[in-house]
Parts: sequence; structure tokens; C-alpha cells
Amino acid sequence: MLYLIGLGIYDEKDMSLRALEILRDADYVYSEFYTNAFTGDIRNLERLIGKKIQTLNRSDLEEHPEENILKNPSKKTTLLIPGDPMVATTHTDLILRAKESGIEVKIIHSSSIYSAIAETGLHIYKFGKTTSLPFPQKNYFPTSPYTALKDNLRSGMHTLFLLDVRAQEDRYMTINDAIQIMHQIEESKKEKIFTKDTLCVGVARLGGDSTIIYGKTKDLMDYDFGRTPHSLVVPGKLHFIEEEMLQTFTHK
Ligand SMILES: C[S@@+](CC[C@H](N)C(=O)[O-])C[C@H]1O[C@@H](n2cnc3c(N)ncnc32)[C@H](O)[C@@H]1O
Repeated sequence: MLYLIGLGIYDEKDMSLRALEILRDADYVYSEFYTNAFTGDIRNLERLIGKKIQTLNRSDLEEHPEENILKNPSKKTTLLIPGDPMVATTHTDLILRAKESGIEVKIIHSSSIYSAIAETGLHIYKFGKTTSLPFPQKNYFPTSPYTALKDNLRSGMHTLFLLDVRAQEDRYMTINDAIQIMHQIEESKKEKIFTKDTLCVGVARLGGDSTIIYGKTKDLMDYDFGRTPHSLVVPGKLHFIEEEMLQTFTHK
């Protein structure tokens, strides 16, 4: 049996009692922190479950899972994932491979950026397509996040930008990086979709010592949000209650 277990939005205290019970009884405990960094204390987590945790990187899981989590089909194997295990498309492939090998898979859900973002006051059902914003590279500067924003705005929807995680390089995108990258795309596209006056919401460390700031991109681009993880939202058409909530987070 393979268990994909959500660690929750912030630290080890966000894990469910169901997860704790399974982990205490598990034969193997693995973790991955490449879809998001773990903001909790891994040693504390090990003490809590009474077992060592072996951290896997992307290639271990995506290229050689039969050498680790799919190695012992008859054992109780667990994989810890920050947030909710299903809020990261990469794990669907893993589930398929486990099923192909005749391994039963059970998902233990947890809190996620996908629901926590509603702490901004923005109605969760009014979010359009979520977009991931990558760090630009030499020959790779995708403008798809800009297109996603444009499409969402056209239908009055809010846009959640998930910011790049480069765990191998210990590099995590900040809200300031994200605003700068989007301004760069605006400079080349010139469609006035993400200007210096565009209103946005920067959110950092939701579920922990969270910071939520609402303001124009020109005001938030130099704001110090502190440690990552960070996310960025550009609101679409606002209901007056959403507007009222956002005002409580206004940049001063
Ligand atoms: C690929 S997603 C993984 C989401 C995770 N599986 C979940 O369910 O929350 C990683 C991105 O989510 C966002 N994120 C995750 N946790 C966050 C938090 N506590 N506060 C703000 N943003 C967060 C960041 O943009 C981060 O780079």
C-alpha cells in the first residue's frame, strides 16, 4: 500500500491525526520538498512519528520510483508532501505508475494554498485558471502567465500565481520577483494587463505567520514580505464584500 500524505499549508502541526496514525504504523517514510519547501521542522516531525524520513528529489520520484517508493509493494510505504498531495500535477503520474504495478494508493488530504488563499477575502469560486510563474532562463521566458491573467480578467475571474520553487538550487520566487517578471512581460506585450497601477494581493506564509498586503504593483514591488512561500493574486471583478475585505489588507 502506498499512502500520499499531505503535510498541510505550513508546518508539522497541520498534519491530520489520520496521517499521524498511518505514519506511526508505516514501514517506510519518504518526503518530497521540490513541489514546495517545507516550512516546518523535519526533526520535530521525525520525533512525532518516531521514524526517520528519507527525502527524495524530483528525479528519484519521477524517473526511478521503482527504486524507492514503489520498491516494496507489500509494505506500508508513505510519501509526505507539503500542502495537499493532489495540488501538484506531478503526483498523478506517480499514482498511475503505482496502480500499473498493482500497488493500492490512498490519499490523505490536507490544507492547501488552493483553499487558504480565500483568507484574502476573495471568493474561492471566482478564481479562474491558476498559473505557475517560472524564473526566466536564458532561452526560456514563457508569457503564458500573462495570457492566463488576460483570459481570467476577460471573464471577471481572479488569478492565482503560484511562484517558482527551485529546491535543488535553494531558490524560491518572492512576490517582488513575480511583479518584476510580470512587468517585464507587460513591457514586451504592451496590452496593459499588468501595469504599475494594477491592483494585486501579495500573500506570504499563509497558515503560519501570514502576511497579506493589497495594493498597486508599484507599491508592492519593493515591500518586504519576509520568508517564502509567497503567492500573488490579481483580483478580477469584485463583489462589495470582497472589496471590503481587501481594504483591510491595504498597503499603507
Ligand atoms: C506547486 S505549489 C504546491 C502547493 C501545495 N501542494 C499545496 O497544496 O498548497 C507551491 C506554491 O504554492 C504557493 N504556496 C504554498 N504554500 C503557501 C503558503 N503557505 N503561503 C503562500 N503561498 C504558498 C507558493 O506560490 C508555492 O511556490
